[in-house]
Amino acid sequence: MKICVVGTGYVGLVTGACLADVGCQIVCIDQDQSKIDGLKKNVLPIYEPGLEEVVERAVSAGNLAFTTDLHSTVAESDAVFIAVGTPQGDDGRSDLSYVEAASRQIAEALSGSTTIIVKSTVPVGTCRRVARIVHHTNPDAESSVVSNPEFLREGVAVEDFMEPDRIVIGTQDDRARTVMNAIYSHFVDKGAPLVQTTLETSELIKYSANAFLATKVAFINEMANLCDSVGANVEDLSKAIGMDERIGPSFLKPGPGYGGSCFPKDTLALTIQAQESDCPVRIVESVVSSNSFHIRRLGKRIAEFCGDVWSSLGWNETSLDQKTIAVLGLAFKADTDDIRSAASTVILPLLQKQGARIVGYDPAAMDTAKAEMPGLETAESIEAAVSGADAVLILTEWNQFKSLDWARLLPTMNAPVVVDFRNLYPPNEMSTHGAHYASLGRPLADVA
Ligand code: UDX
Repeated sequence: MKICVVGTGYVGLVTGACLADVGCQIVCIDQDQSKIDGLKKNVLPIYEPGLEEVVERAVSAGNLAFTTDLHSTVAESDAVFIAVGTPQGDDGRSDLSYVEAASRQIAEALSGSTTIIVKSTVPVGTCRRVARIVHHTNPDAESSVVSNPEFLREGVAVEDFMEPDRIVIGTQDDRARTVMNAIYSHFVDKGAPLVQTTLETSELIKYSANAFLATKVAFINEMANLCDSVGANVEDLSKAIGMDERIGPSFLKPGPGYGGSCFPKDTLALTIQAQESDCPVRIVESVVSSNSFHIRRLGKRIAEFCGDVWSSLGWNETSLDQKTIAVLGLAFKADTDDIRSAASTVILPLLQKQGARIVGYDPAAMDTAKAEMPGLETAESIEAAVSGADAVLILTEWNQFKSLDWARLLPTMNAPVVVDFRNLYPPNEMSTHGAHYASLGRPLADVA
């Protein structure tokens, strides 16, 4: 069976490369010539751990190729994945223009019987819309549209694809179901659970999963804030509630709000579709506002905490104006270069507005961050960012930031102030090093 994947972003490239790695014949298509030229030389357009090796292996095995030629590739394919972006539109809805454009181009190229598989995250009803576009564009084409959402986490996307918790296939067409079963046979044979359902249910599963996970994150962030207010410890709380099998231990780490390319966009799109269906999802609406409130509140907390510490050190000027804040971590989470809806993109402009100079360091996301935040200065290393700073702010939980030599770093700073929104260090340990340390939902430790 010949398969092609339209779109070589995080989802398309991981899908194409991983399927090729397990023996499928895959061609990845992108309209961006420079991306395709790079991929042909094994230069990936994204940072995703392990993906380069998978691409290299699949290309060497002759299972993976890259092209900009959508028309002839689709014409030769039995199955076509649509894995183009569905970014958030100005009105909060998903912008489906790329999906629609891809559907039209695919339709024009169809020949023989083809299964069109929608991998992009799309609101309920979109797969039927794709089917209508295809039929309208090419009434004679023999095709079937299937929903097959992805559940890949950036940073561990290859692992998630290779060992899926479940594979969801939405179709009521027997022939398309047979094609999908063949594509995923490697994974199902190894024990991956298969959920076969309708188009609408499949589309909604993706949104529900993300909304539920976002709810867990927003919930624990609210609990962390409450812990701060009442003097409780969110780490013990999270551990204890997670021991209840009905709750589970994962996704209960407090942080600077959920970000990334999925949760913020998908939760918002879900609330809009639900409102339009006259069936508002109040919990998800609250999660959306809780998360944005949380991020902004943290922005204020930095100024308050730093001001209090600087004042206790006898400084006259305790506002952020002309202070240097070293920021460790710009990506929305560790192991990615993605800064879409990252806490840094909200918090750093708030600090800059108050006159702070920001010097950021991130192992992978400095280029993407600079493109998004033009006023941002970056440093070549953690040491260079921290040296001379009036405070350090930790926003991303990169491994590199988890075992810093504070005894060496703190004396290089203008003031030993550390604000850690990923709770990477025990407050007492930081106190022992002489740091004024603030974290989330854990009793404040001050210099011993
Ligand atoms: C998510 C879903 O997990 C994935 O299944 C879906 O297909 C795409 O969206 P991703 O956006 O890559 O994946 O990141 P994820 O690891 O889920 O984290 C999302 C956000 O929640 C990040 O900002 C992360 O820092 C935050 N988070 C996650 C927490 O703050 N605490 C947690 O305990 C878990």
